[in-house]
Amino acid sequence: MSNETIGSVEHQVSGLTKLAGEFTRQSSDEQAHNQQLLEIASLLLPTYGNQWNMHSLVTLKRQSLSRILYYNELYRKIIEIPGVICEFGVQWGATLAQLINLRGIYEPFNPSRKIFGFDTFEGFPVVDEKDGGFSNVGDYAITKNYAETLEKILTLHESFSPISHVKKFELIKGDASLTIDDWLEDNPYAIVAMAIFDMDVYKPTKTVLEKILPRLTKGSILVFDELNCPHFPGETRALDEVIGIRNLSLRRFPHQTYSSWAVFGE
Ligand SMILES: C[S@@+](CC[C@H](N)C(=O)[O-])C[C@H]1O[C@@H](n2cnc3c(N)ncnc32)[C@H](O)[C@@H]1O
Repeated sequence: MSNETIGSVEHQVSGLTKLAGEFTRQSSDEQAHNQQLLEIASLLLPTYGNQWNMHSLVTLKRQSLSRILYYNELYRKIIEIPGVICEFGVQWGATLAQLINLRGIYEPFNPSRKIFGFDTFEGFPVVDEKDGGFSNVGDYAITKNYAETLEKILTLHESFSPISHVKKFELIKGDASLTIDDWLEDNPYAIVAMAIFDMDVYKPTKTVLEKILPRLTKGSILVFDELNCPHFPGETRALDEVIGIRNLSLRRFPHQTYSSWAVFGE
């Protein structure tokens, strides 16, 4: 396996490798197996026929299944909490798509559960010294104009669940530290039932958390994807400065490394 096929190795920290702007803990064997699976999956995809989506589960990895199970657990916690879901840090939309599908499963007749996704869709716009020197501007960037493709994908996902003529998601493009102000003004009704912080870095996490606090109710779920994470120290710092780590009962899911969640007000 050459580095060309798996992306360039830019940085190594505490057993992690940074490949094309994203951290991974995969060994070289795992990277090779990952690439083999990708090659097989790419060849198979056009051959599955009408049930392609179901059949493509044959190449879904344990790690991806764990992520779905995690969000399944989290979604079930907000069913009795009024309000919208905000995901800060969307990237390719893997989590946003699952949230739309979980809504279709658990709350098919709740059009008030709108789902908002905030991202630059151009990677990190800013990093701070509190991010510890591990991250760079532009990390986690995706392909150009991807937000338009994601809009189509999410619209299709909505079409497979009830009340699909009502659009119940919105992508907000730009630096979330800035777009959050307009969002709060444009959505004065919105209570935030679940806020997912997955921007990884200090500054936007701190700013957005500060600004949405008044829209949380006791029982809202706060989700942090990189807490207690050596290579993304900024997320822990941001939470500590805004709410205080000791003021939340943080919990983790056994199959996610750095993800933590807490019930606000408990
Ligand atoms: C780890 S990815 C998110 C992954 C996604 N939540 C998922 O589960 O697939 C981090 C994302 O945060 C975004 N991000 C970082 N800083 C941001 C900021 N200030 N404003 C908006 N998005 C930001 C990046 O563009 C990147 O797409």
